[in-house]
Order: sequence, then structure tokens, then C-alpha cells
Amino acid sequence: MLKGKFPTDKFKSLATPFYYYNIELLRETLNVIKAEAAKYNYHIHYAVKANANPRILSEIARSGLGADCVSGGEIQAAINAGFRPGAIVFAGVGKADWEIELGLDSDISCFNVESTAELEVICLTAAAKGKTAPVALRINPDIDPHTHAKITTGMKENKFGISQKQLGATLDRLAGMRNVRLTGIHFHLGSQITDLFSFQSLAIRASEIQDEFDRRGIFLENINFGGGLGIDYYHPNHLPVAAFENYFAAVGRLLRPRTGQQIHFEPGRSVVGQCGTLISKVLYVKEGDTKRFAVLDAGFTELIRPAMYDAYHRIENITSEGETGLYDVVGPICESSDVFGRDVELNLVRRGDLLALRSAGAYGEIMASQYNCRRLPASYFSDTI
Ligand code: LLP
Repeated sequence: MLKGKFPTDKFKSLATPFYYYNIELLRETLNVIKAEAAKYNYHIHYAVKANANPRILSEIARSGLGADCVSGGEIQAAINAGFRPGAIVFAGVGKADWEIELGLDSDISCFNVESTAELEVICLTAAAKGKTAPVALRINPDIDPHTHAKITTGMKENKFGISQKQLGATLDRLAGMRNVRLTGIHFHLGSQITDLFSFQSLAIRASEIQDEFDRRGIFLENINFGGGLGIDYYHPNHLPVAAFENYFAAVGRLLRPRTGQQIHFEPGRSVVGQCGTLISKVLYVKEGDTKRFAVLDAGFTELIRPAMYDAYHRIENITSEGETGLYDVVGPICESSDVFGRDVELNLVRRGDLLALRSAGAYGEIMASQYNCRRLPASYFSDTI
């Protein structure tokens, strides 16, 4: 069984469970993103929601990417990590008053606005500060990205964005607002999208929508395509870097930016997904009537994706070369959904073995919880371990 390369001896002295980040892979991924985006002069804002570990954030900030934030906490984390406020965009369907104030006080580059109601609050808050808020309208493009229903965002039935039907009325309303300045439009289809045609559909839809702005004589400085590029959860060893070349080319082929217009993307998962691994120890091998269970010291408190989205994460026994067998890999949480994988083929599992749950860098550590009064997981990095 081909396995990822891990410093297993070093792991043996560390308390489990913990996240292990391959910093070299993160840097390689960032270099590919920057090189591919540079071909089209695209602007990249890392979606902080995928992983806000301070070390990971500072690596990404240092590489020169901007940040896409969805809360005041994320804006603060991004600034602390060294992201320039002028390269921070702020999305989210429910921005609280203090979060809007923080965005204004920090002089972030753009509020991605999701409703007329929000626009009015941003305008009033900016007026009270004697400022003008830069805003982009998040438009719901109503495109099916063919991904898990719980991570689909750009369809009519989703709560996100302003519908195309309401766009005209929103623009009429906006025209009378003095303390907001419309700088662009924003879209986001969903997450873990591997079908690049969905992004092409979005590029076509974005061009059509631009025509509506042209008719009104409004020039859009920015078009933001959101995030969503998927990673290969099945082959993390073979395909550790996502298909950025094809992704940008797919959009680039269809979209002709107007003179002076900037095109933006907000990738999260594809930046950090493959560089993170959850390392967990086997507490018990339990023989059931029909199943053999490998009971780990990590549960959905450390990695909730399998329980929440039926997500697949490749699992490897990194301390055994024994004969392979099938195991249900489960956690210690008192819930039946606390299962990482069923009938997983693993090298012989014994108490004390270390199991690696791969491709866990995105929406892993950041979604950890303290349910059952558990401790949050520690994190280690390939260059400092
Ligand atoms: N921009 C916006 C407005 C978003 O809502 C998201 C993700 C992104 C960018 C980044 O998308 P990415 O490139 O990471 O696909 N917890 C789920 C994923 C939720 C994604 C939410 N929005 C999971 O574990 O699969």
C-alpha cells in the first residue's frame, strides 16, 4: 500500500490526536497558484475559513495572497497573520454590526454584500464614521455545481447572494446611497467542485450579468468568482496540488476582462487541503459480530467532514506493514455518526498504531469542537517538528 511520507519516529513521542502540516507542500501549492494566476493577472484571496491556524495563515500571507473572510474573527486573524487590509474581502449573509465596524475601521478592500437590508446597514454605519464603504454585490448565479448538497451555495434555493431577479431593484436602491461605492460583483458556486464546466457556466453567466451593468452605464472594477476548486481526496500522494492550471484556463478561455477590470478568486480547500493530515492513535481493536473496528483517539470533534458530509478521507496505518484487512475506523465520541470510514483496507492494526487521515488541511482543524469536553487538537509542522 503506497503511503504518504511522514516522520513517524518523531510522531511517536507526541500526544495524539494532532494535525500535521507539510509546509513544503503548502509552499509548492502557493507557488503553483501564483504562477498560474499570474498568466491571467488574476488576484487570489485565500478563504480563511478553510484553515486559520496562525502558522498556516502567516505562510499564506507571506506568499502575497489576499484574504477572503466571513467574520470579524477571520478579519482579525488575517490582519494578525500579516495580510494587508487592502487585500481583504469580507463576505457572509449575516454580518453583525461590530463586524461591519471592524471592516470599516480596518479599511478592508471590499464588503461582498448579500442583501439590500445589509447594504443599508453598511451605508448607515459608514456614514456615522464619515467613510464610504467599498461594496461588491454577491449575486446568486443559480448554477448547479454538482457537488454535495450541503456545500452548494449558488443555487436559487440557497440563502446566499442577491437573485438576478432582484438585481435591478438593488441597483436602483444603491444609486441613492451616498456612503457605499459599488466596485464589483461577487459569485460563489459551492465547494469541492471538480467539474470545471460549472466554472465555465459561471464565466458565461458573469458576462451576461455584466451586460446589465453596461446598460446602466456602471463600470465594474472587480469580478470575483469565489472559491470552490476541488481536490483529489482519493489520490493525495499522486495529485497533491490541485488543477489550478486547468481551472484558471477554463475561466480565462471564456472571460474577457474589460480594460482596467480585475478578476478575483477565493480558493480555500485547494490551497490547504492536501498539506494537512490528522494523526491519531488506535486505542482498541474491537471485534464485533460482523465487523472489526479500529477505535481511534480522534473523533468527529477533530475531523467532522465524514460525519457531516459523508466525506471520504483516505486512511493509512503509518506504523504497520502487516497483512491488510478491512476495518471500520471509528472515533470515541458518543454518537453513531462518529465514523471515519467503513470497510477501510489497512495494514494489520494493533493498539498503539498511528493512523493518518489524509487531505485534512481544509475544514479539519478549523471545524474542531470541544463536544464531550474534549481538548482541541495540537498542530505540528514539517519544518519545525
Ligand atoms: N468564498 C466563499 C464565499 C465561500 O463561501 C467559500 C466556502 C469559499 C470562498 C472557499 O471555498 P473552497 O475553495 O474552500 O471550496 N466545510 C465544508 C466546506 C464549506 C465551504 C463554505 N464556503 C467542507 O468541509 O467541505
